[in-house]
Amino acid sequence: MKLAVFASGTGSNFEAIFSAIQRGALQAEIVLVVCDKPSAKVADSARRKGVSTFVFAAKDYPSKEAYETTIAEHLESVGADWLVLAGYMRLIGKTLLDKYPGRILNIHPSLLPKYKGKDALGQALAQGDMLLGASVHYVDETLDGGTIIKQVSFSRTEGEIRTAIEQRLHHVEHELYLAVLQELSKEAQ
Ligand code: GRF
Repeated sequence: MKLAVFASGTGSNFEAIFSAIQRGALQAEIVLVVCDKPSAKVADSARRKGVSTFVFAAKDYPSKEAYETTIAEHLESVGADWLVLAGYMRLIGKTLLDKYPGRILNIHPSLLPKYKGKDALGQALAQGDMLLGASVHYVDETLDGGTIIKQVSFSRTEGEIRTAIEQRLHHVEHELYLAVLQELSKEAQ
C-alpha cells in the first residue's frame, strides 16, 4: 500500500502509522503527507522523517477543485493508492473522491454516527457519555459520513480529566487505524 496521509495539525496518527511501518507491523509506505496548514507540526515532523510533503494554503487557490487538482498531481507523481485522513480539517471534494473511489479513509474521535464534526470528544462529554470511542470509515462527500469500517470504544471514569481522556483516545485511535490498515494491506496482497 502506498499511503498519502492528509493532516492539518499535530500528526500523532501520522507518527503512529509511520512507526508501525518502521517496526515492520504494517506492510506499507507513506509516500506523501498532504497538509493544508503551513505551520502545522505534522508538516515539520514529516520533513524530519524524510517523507515527501505537499503543503498548501487553500486561500492561494481559486477553488476546492483547483487545490484538489494540484493535490491529485502530487499523489500521482508518488503513486499513492490510498488516502489516509488523520485530522485533515477539510471536506474532500469531487475531484479526489472521483479519482480514489473506495480508497479514502478517515478517523474520527467518536462512535459514529454520533458526534460528527468538530470537537467530537467535547460533544460526547457535554452529553455526559461515559462510553467513548473512535471510528475509521470510508470517506464520501458528507462530513464524517461514509461506511464505517471499524470502531473501538472505551469507558471513561467518573471525574477523569479531559487531558487524560484525550490521551487514552489518541492511543485508541492509533491502534484502531493500524488495525484497519493491516486488514486492508492483507486484502491487497
Ligand atoms: C484525531 O483525533 C482524529 O480522530 C481527528 O483529528 C485528530 C487528529 O489528531 N480527525 P493527530 O493530528 O493525528 O494527533
